[in-house]
Amino acid sequence: MIRLDTSFFSLELKTSATSWQADATAALAAVKRGDCAGGEFTGWYDWPRRHGFALAEEVKQHVAGIGRFYDTVVVVGIGGSYLGCRAVVDALTHSHAASLNRGPNASKTPQVVYAGHNLSEAGLIELLDFLATREPIVNVISKSGTTTEPAVAFRVIRDHMEQRYGKAEAARRIIATTDAHKGALRRLAGDAGYKTFVVPDDVGGRFSVLTAVGLVPLALAGFDIDSLLNGADQLFRSLEGEGLATHPVIEYATLRRAAFAAGKRVEILAYGEPRLATVVEWWKQLFGESEGKAGQGMFPAGLSYTTDLHSLGQYVQDGCRNLIQTFLSFSETLPASLRSGDASERRLRVPHAAHNDDDLGYLEGRPISDINQAAMIGTKVAHSDGGVPSLELHLRELSASSLGELFAFFETACAVSALLLGVNPFDQPGVEAYKKNLFALLGKPGFEELGGALRRRL
Ligand code: PA5
Repeated sequence: MIRLDTSFFSLELKTSATSWQADATAALAAVKRGDCAGGEFTGWYDWPRRHGFALAEEVKQHVAGIGRFYDTVVVVGIGGSYLGCRAVVDALTHSHAASLNRGPNASKTPQVVYAGHNLSEAGLIELLDFLATREPIVNVISKSGTTTEPAVAFRVIRDHMEQRYGKAEAARRIIATTDAHKGALRRLAGDAGYKTFVVPDDVGGRFSVLTAVGLVPLALAGFDIDSLLNGADQLFRSLEGEGLATHPVIEYATLRRAAFAAGKRVEILAYGEPRLATVVEWWKQLFGESEGKAGQGMFPAGLSYTTDLHSLGQYVQDGCRNLIQTFLSFSETLPASLRSGDASERRLRVPHAAHNDDDLGYLEGRPISDINQAAMIGTKVAHSDGGVPSLELHLRELSASSLGELFAFFETACAVSALLLGVNPFDQPGVEAYKKNLFALLGKPGFEELGGALRRRL
């Protein structure tokens, strides 16, 4: 079970956080009932039990029946439509898997690649070069079915697939995940005969990792989606019943609220394992889009330690004091892909050197993970002494199950935290401004007036 260590958070903020507990438990109850602000988008709450486990069976059945060889899964999507899947893949896959898997003994685990999360021409050219050497399956994911970035990338990739395999075989290698009824992608998928999965109406993009949005590409790539759902289910079950005022979800939300009220404007999610970078990207989207509206919300930032201690660490220690920091830590950071059986068999220790010529004799025999942990603890204390209240979110081993638990934890805490700020956690009105300008500048029908106004300004 996830733990929140508050020992290095300021006493003053901890005291002030207690005054938000009643509001936070009321907000959580409203999320559960679906009658909070944006309540029509609370379908993610308790998702595994309500739909997730049944969906996982359907997804696994489809994957098992694909009946054609593939070595690559192309995930086409942006924001909530790809970050959750990528977070799991990056956290649990060997960083050099792509190179290690070449040759006659290559593993059968497909490689996951991404498109549609930017508008880079170079990125698409590189992807096409790569796909020409592979046997891909494509999962295009867009709840609205109209988002420009994935739509453009998918048109390019679809063209590649149809030219290479012919329309009928390409259609068998493409899966679309989108709204049940609306949007260009739903229409297109129906016309082309793609297998489709649904993004539920009551789940917004950034809360959708445990729906088909995350489960389909992860299952295609061989990840354990049952464990992911089980971990999330465990978290939701822990939120049943009464006496939740001291639950880590409520504690995290109220401490953040107290920090914001005291003028803190940035929350850093710090991590000591580079493989967690995309988990933190997912968190940034979740909190940034859910809270950052109507002049509210802490800016969510991510720092990779110890790398960033040699760049931004100076600012965190000594710069503007409007920061709080949350450390993301795991008791066992070696994912199964790096273990052979028991993790202890794979511990990497500082080796013996005959003459201690590098002055590291005092570390001889110490596991590298101990050194990293000492760096995290030392940093937490130093930053806290420097005026950055610091929390630590602690999970068991780095696995699909603990990632599921973490997703459910952050989704729930984020909803409660945004409600404490008085904003709707589930909309993103600010994203529309750039989208409209983009459509207008590209000449999309219906945006002529805005296009003219923009061109006069430029
Ligand atoms: O959280 C959200 O709703 C957004 O960030 C979406 O995930 C993102 O904009 C992608 O949207 P769509 O899935 O409709 O293409």
